[in-house]
Amino acid sequence: MKAVRGASVLDISRMGGVPHASVCGGRGRCSTCRVHVDAGWEMLPPPRDGEQRVLQRIRAPGRVRLACQLCPTGDVAVTPLLPADARARDALPYDPMKFGAEQEIVILFADLRGFTQMSETKLPFDVVHILNQYFSEMGEAIESAGGYLDKFIGDGIMALFGLQSGEQQGVEAGARQAVTAARAMGERLQALNRRLAQDLATPLRLGLGIHAGPAIVGEMGYGRATSITAIGDAVNVASRLESATKDVGCELLISTDVAQRGKLDLSAFAQQQISIRGREGGLGVYVVRHAADLPSFPQT
Ligand code: FES
Repeated sequence: MKAVRGASVLDISRMGGVPHASVCGGRGRCSTCRVHVDAGWEMLPPPRDGEQRVLQRIRAPGRVRLACQLCPTGDVAVTPLLPADARARDALPYDPMKFGAEQEIVILFADLRGFTQMSETKLPFDVVHILNQYFSEMGEAIESAGGYLDKFIGDGIMALFGLQSGEQQGVEAGARQAVTAARAMGERLQALNRRLAQDLATPLRLGLGIHAGPAIVGEMGYGRATSITAIGDAVNVASRLESATKDVGCELLISTDVAQRGKLDLSAFAQQQISIRGREGGLGVYVVRHAADLPSFPQT
């Protein structure tokens, strides 16, 4: 709708009859009126000191402003971030995991090679027993390294690293953690194979892919099936690297992006280009025959 110059986004909502939370009555204190600016961000005047302080207090990510303090000078599109009946206690610091945010992360995919065929010759009890031991070992390797176990997909695993922001926790730390986790996964699988030698006709084998890049991270799903996860091109690429280990004939492929972001020296491993759908020129990767052979990197 059209509005007079000088009106705040909250004023405009009210004039348009759009319900909009405003616990402090538009005095720039409660932050319940916060909005995400969907379009027109570039043309907005910067926040004044008071608004800036509140945005910092609630750890607002980019494109979030207080509707009662924001007076647009051109066309904007906004989405209120709290329900119209929000109370003061709902205005907790912004939780990017809850509302979603784009951030740089590291993604690891793992798959158990040949397990489907192997499971056809086993009793269901044995299949579940072996798989649960495998999941437990891999889950511990990921969490001990600082990763977040996103989901189990059949006998596959998706894990995220570097989810938390901050000097010790961003994508650089995530890259180190992911490589540390991969090494531990390789070692734990070798130990598991020794333990299960009587039960397995052939040892369990892993395929792992690790990539880093921007992804949308947030709570997604429905009802009890809601959890924090990540979507985006970087996630798809990590999954494709895991699949590509079959063609390359190795246990692990790590994109050079991971090494760069984590400042990791992986020069001991062969480097090659992998063709990835939608990427001209392919993607540079390090070929790791056995994940257990990775060096250990000190965590930042
Ligand atoms: S209405 Fe309270 S900060 Fe905007």
